[in-house]
Formats: sequence, C-alpha cells, structure tokens
Amino acid sequence: MLWFGLNNNKMNKSNVKKINLKNKFDKISKYWSPKIIGELNNYQFKIAKFKDDFIRHNHPETDEAFIVIEGEIYIDFDDKTEIITAGEMIVVPKGVYHKPYSKKEAKVLMIEPRGTVNTGEIVNELTLSNENWI
Ligand code: NI
Repeated sequence: MLWFGLNNNKMNKSNVKKINLKNKFDKISKYWSPKIIGELNNYQFKIAKFKDDFIRHNHPETDEAFIVIEGEIYIDFDDKTEIITAGEMIVVPKGVYHKPYSKKEAKVLMIEPRGTVNTGEIVNELTLSNENWI
C-alpha cells in the first residue's frame, strides 16, 4: 500500500550531500585537468581551471557544456571566437572543433556524459583518464 511505502522511505538514509564549488576548486592546482565532482544519471559535472592554451579538438559522440564560474575563457571555433565570462555558459555541439584558452586563470564547470575524453578525438600528453574524482 502507498502509505507503507512512504513511511518506509522516511527511514532510509538520504545519502545526499551538497557540493561547494569553491572548496572543490581550492583542491585543484593543475590547469586543464578536469575533476569529477558529481554525476546526474549518465552525465558528469567536472570542474577545471583554465589558463593559457588548450588544443583544438572535437567530440564526435557528444555535446559539451562549459559554465564559467570565475574569470573568462575564449573558445576558438573555425569561423569565430566566443568569449564566455563568469555567469555565462556555452554548449559546444558534438563534432564541432573548439580550442579553449584563457589569458588569466578561469574556473569552469563542464557537463558531459560519463567517459568523455577531455582532448576529444586526440590522444596526447594532455589526455586524462576518465575517473578523476575530487
Ligand atoms: Ni572539448
């Protein structure tokens, strides 16, 4: 019966914890090194500090969202450059080449499916493993 189910749920531990972005960013010292801070179904929330240049790449299988928390980032597309500042976000469609960079340190939250590789279709010394929790 329904009432029984509700009552039962009350006794479960919620296992819910809030996540403080500032505290998480404080644990990151390396640039261009995304860390996972949470999951939503098959998607992951990753944070990273950006500074100077990253490589031009694309993700053939997925879109990628960038939400700028602090500072500003630039993303070069083949036909234009977008500047995304704190409080702004951009969604890069799958398959679209993008080259992120930042003149000063910027703090960025990214949302993408579990297993997305930071360097897209390219594998080099900047490529990270996918299970980098912080
Ligand atoms: Ni990307």
